[in-house]
Amino acid sequence: MTSLNQWLNQQPNQDLGALIDSLAQVCTEICTLVRRGPLAEFQGAAGNTNVQGEDQQKLDVITNDMLIAALKQTPSCRAIASEEMDHAIEANPNGQFLVVFDPLDGSSNIDINMPTGTIFSVLADLPDASLDDKFLQAGTKQLAAGYVLYGTATILALTLGSGTHFFCLDPATGVFELTESNVSIAAQTQEFAINASNQRFWEAPMQQYIAQCLAGAEGARGKNFNMRWVAAMVGDVHRILCRGGVFNYPFDHKDPSKAGKLRLLYEANPMGLLIEQAGGKCTTARQRILEIEPSSLHQRVPVVLGSLEEVNLIGELHRQFDAKKA
Ligand code: AHG
Ligand code: MN
Ligand code: MN
Repeated sequence: MTSLNQWLNQQPNQDLGALIDSLAQVCTEICTLVRRGPLAEFQGAAGNTNVQGEDQQKLDVITNDMLIAALKQTPSCRAIASEEMDHAIEANPNGQFLVVFDPLDGSSNIDINMPTGTIFSVLADLPDASLDDKFLQAGTKQLAAGYVLYGTATILALTLGSGTHFFCLDPATGVFELTESNVSIAAQTQEFAINASNQRFWEAPMQQYIAQCLAGAEGARGKNFNMRWVAAMVGDVHRILCRGGVFNYPFDHKDPSKAGKLRLLYEANPMGLLIEQAGGKCTTARQRILEIEPSSLHQRVPVVLGSLEEVNLIGELHRQFDAKKA
């Protein structure tokens, strides 16, 4: 067995390794808290809304505070940004890394004992930029990205830009052990994930794509599809890393002020790097996510990610639609 620590010691950037180790440590503490379920008395709403106007759960706030405390103790961390904070904050003046995270993804799952996770992305500091602006870097600039899924087992999915790897937390020892190196996503799939309750708000090409999947063997695709929706992106992305598939949170007309639901810097970009490093693809249906130049900390993007050929097909349907409109 190779522990996360041993694995990180073999990597070229030891400072980055120490930062990842701090993140993994605090995630084991978050795991312990989440695992207590209703016994922790931390379930339910915190009674306030975050910068996106979403109700914060008590655990959103607590896990955010835990990550901040841990990163402030990590000298290489320069600044921190989070889903749960309007603006970035200072960590350590001499740090070289920026860390941006979603402290608890899928937090509507807490009260029903379903999977949640922590998603993180690491960037190099931009010394001359203001605190918020430091984080406005394209996803291609990420030095590391990962998530910890608090599911049936607790699994860290990690990339330092060279492959995507799984580490499973051994509850008996508190150590993350390497369980799969260089995860690879099959290019083809017969499984999709989408919140179908938004169907009437989708654009025509997404309507067309899902209609073709639902038509199954008798339709244009000539094969039957299965559907899954965890309501936590960490869960859906983990399934895709394990057995392929396509995850869609597409552009929709539900709220014209929001270009999709998911956030670029701490959801789409880290998941995009993990997916690409496993041979999959991550787009808005029109553009590679990792190439988007961010304009604000909490910017939203449509997300289509997973098995290469399926993401390509969705892109093609959007291209044909846009060409007809032009
Ligand atoms: P968060 O709990 O951090 O706000 O993120 C929830 C996100 C994402 O994890 C998930 O894929 C999506 O919201 C679920 O959306 P629906 O509520 O539309 O199912
Ligand atoms: Mn989230
Ligand atoms: Mn969250």
